[in-house]
Amino acid sequence: MHRNDVPDGTALTVRTPDLRFGDGVAADLPDVLDELGVERPIVVSDEGIDAAGILDTVVGSLDRDVETWYAATEPSTADFGGLTTDGDGFVAVGGGSCIDTAKLAAALSAHGGSARAYLGVGRVPGPVAPLVAVPTTSGTGSQATQTAVISHDGVKRGASDEYLRPDVALVDPTLTFSLPRGQTARSGFDAFVHALESLLARDYRQVPERPITYQGANPASRPLSERALSLVHGGLEGVVENGEDRAARRAMSLGSHLAGVAFSIAGLGIVHALASTLGGMTDRSHGECLAASIRVGLAYNRPAKEAEYAAVADSLGARNGDGGDDDGDDHDDPAAGADDLLAECDRLREAIGLPGSFAAVGCDRSDTDQVVENTLIQERRLATNPRKVSEADLREAVLAGFE
Ligand SMILES: [Fe+2]
Repeated sequence: MHRNDVPDGTALTVRTPDLRFGDGVAADLPDVLDELGVERPIVVSDEGIDAAGILDTVVGSLDRDVETWYAATEPSTADFGGLTTDGDGFVAVGGGSCIDTAKLAAALSAHGGSARAYLGVGRVPGPVAPLVAVPTTSGTGSQATQTAVISHDGVKRGASDEYLRPDVALVDPTLTFSLPRGQTARSGFDAFVHALESLLARDYRQVPERPITYQGANPASRPLSERALSLVHGGLEGVVENGEDRAARRAMSLGSHLAGVAFSIAGLGIVHALASTLGGMTDRSHGECLAASIRVGLAYNRPAKEAEYAAVADSLGARNGDGGDDDGDDHDDPAAGADDLLAECDRLREAIGLPGSFAAVGCDRSDTDQVVENTLIQERRLATNPRKVSEADLREAVLAGFE
């Protein structure tokens, strides 16, 4: 697929938490805390996880004092005022919001200050308390990454720093077995876009000033993205259709984790930038905003990646060679292959019941200027987007998204 994808001597950095994956690995938590020397863990979770009995499954048998905090569904810098703890480590049990809250809480408890001061890149002054992440969704991959997404003044922002990456990820598919259908679809589509965007991110040799937080797609990240994409693409429809499909749940669980590892190395792109914009302008979830943005984002990047789109369509078994029409093109035509990838993303999104346009999440043409403006400021995403993002080109793409 990437015949020229051999290391060329350019420096690469690969960091990842220790991973324990498999049915029941959450029961390893006491051992993991012992290894990390944590005696008084703070558990960050939420009411839904508690009510579903998952919190008890994970921490109920811990042989030490536990203090439990509930994270907000959409964590904000305002949530951390007056944070005090005598804990000596953090355990996040939940989805991205719980894990991101724990990351910032760990930084604040080690270094003080205001949550706002950690927004941006490289703002954590030193090591933080040990953090163990136990994801209960197959989506954000936050257990693998160095970034916490936190709202500030109504805008979703990121705090990215190697010190925020969890020490250990306990990825136990059984914790996702009872995840409701809607959440399964929304979080699963996030994982799908992580795998796809990290695979198609700007090549690492064209991303300046490395090592940086996100290095661009490279020979170390691409195999992870490809494997993640294959697992998530193979599992997502099945798990939405039938939540009891344990094989599909396991595929999603591992796939979403590998996607998190991959994008934490390579970075993401314009689909995530657009989705963050929509997320700030509407109250729709990250997964829905990604679904609403994927066609516009992929169409925008197509001129830079047409052959790669065709190769991805091939790898997903989505090449019908005619781009969804009947003109009988052959498999060597990258334009037809790129059409096939766009068609496959549409088909998958539709099959799991997610919105497919800006209008479907409540934006209209009169919002174009704001969508463009709010997207152009997302340097963290645009730095690794495969095609340079200019105001004029982006406006054209966004307008097309309203047609
Ligand atoms: Fe995401």
